Amino acid sequence: MPRIIHDLFSLEGKTAVVTGGTGVLGGMMARGLAQAGAQIAIVGRRQEKAEEVAASIRAAGGKAIAAPGDVMDTAQMEALRDQVTAEWGKIDILLNAAGGTTPEATVPADKTIFDMSLEAMRHVIDLNLIGTVIPSMVLGEAMAQHKTGCIVNISSMNAQRALTRSPAYSAGKAGIDNFTRWMAVELASKFGEGLRVNAIAPGFFIGDQNRALLLNPDNTLTARGQKIIDHTPAGRFGNPEDLIGALIWLCSPGARFVNGTVIMVDGGFNAFSGI
Ligand SMILES: NC(=O)c1ccc[n+]([C@@H]2O[C@H](COP(=O)([O-])OP(=O)(O)OC[C@H]3O[C@@H](n4cnc5c(N)ncnc54)[C@H](OP(=O)(O)O)[C@@H]3O)[C@@H](O)[C@H]2O)c1
Repeated sequence: MPRIIHDLFSLEGKTAVVTGGTGVLGGMMARGLAQAGAQIAIVGRRQEKAEEVAASIRAAGGKAIAAPGDVMDTAQMEALRDQVTAEWGKIDILLNAAGGTTPEATVPADKTIFDMSLEAMRHVIDLNLIGTVIPSMVLGEAMAQHKTGCIVNISSMNAQRALTRSPAYSAGKAGIDNFTRWMAVELASKFGEGLRVNAIAPGFFIGDQNRALLLNPDNTLTARGQKIIDHTPAGRFGNPEDLIGALIWLCSPGARFVNGTVIMVDGGFNAFSGI
């Protein structure tokens, strides 16, 4: 690799904490950060899965540890910060990929918003928004002490426009877009330009949570899956690997003047009017 490109995009020696690293997209993005040279702490509630992802990164020649924890629990995030700083000295990158929704906070085709449980809505907004705010406060403070660090949040197409069925998830992800801009301004103006906060808004990727919504058991498209493909100029769902380039760029010196943005990685879904 030419030196100038290496210096722009290498993450060698950086320490990254990946919440939702036990999931489909977070796990792949963690592998991508490791390939760019970062050492990774894999965070999720499932200890075994965190160990498995960390082991797969080490088997590929990278550095990774499992750091199981719940992003809704401040004390667990403080323990995570202490574990990672004890292991590697500092935290350079936080990827907030923990999130998702539940069937109870989703409006099925034969129901309306008036049938939805408010308690379920609160839980999903909390998981997506507050589950990003808590790690950003706890680990962001550690970054602020060193005047350097990069936070990348995971948003969604739901944050931009109304997608049917998921009002709670949409509200949580819209909150993430706003929090991304707010935290970017807060950290850079009070602690210096070495602190940056951006987000990636993935388009539609097959994950464990949305598989049944998008694919039939025989892997053909559901009616909703077909509508999404018809509205995606690329004509396909995303592959988790498609997120790696944008993530490495946002975390690298190549994006040193990029702050408070939400990058769509969506095959053109958000740009397309449908006509
Ligand atoms: N798939 C898509 O098309 C798509 C599109 C746009 C955005 N996204 C977003 O991308 C992210 C990853 O989604 P995915 O499709 O990869 O789903 P996934 O495989 O279900 O991953 C969700 C991750 O969130 C973690 N998580 C959930 N609650 C948590 C908690 N309280 N504390 C710690 N971790 C928690 C899960 O880990 P544990 O179960 O181990 O706790 C899991 O690692 C989510 O934020 C999702 O909203 C996905």
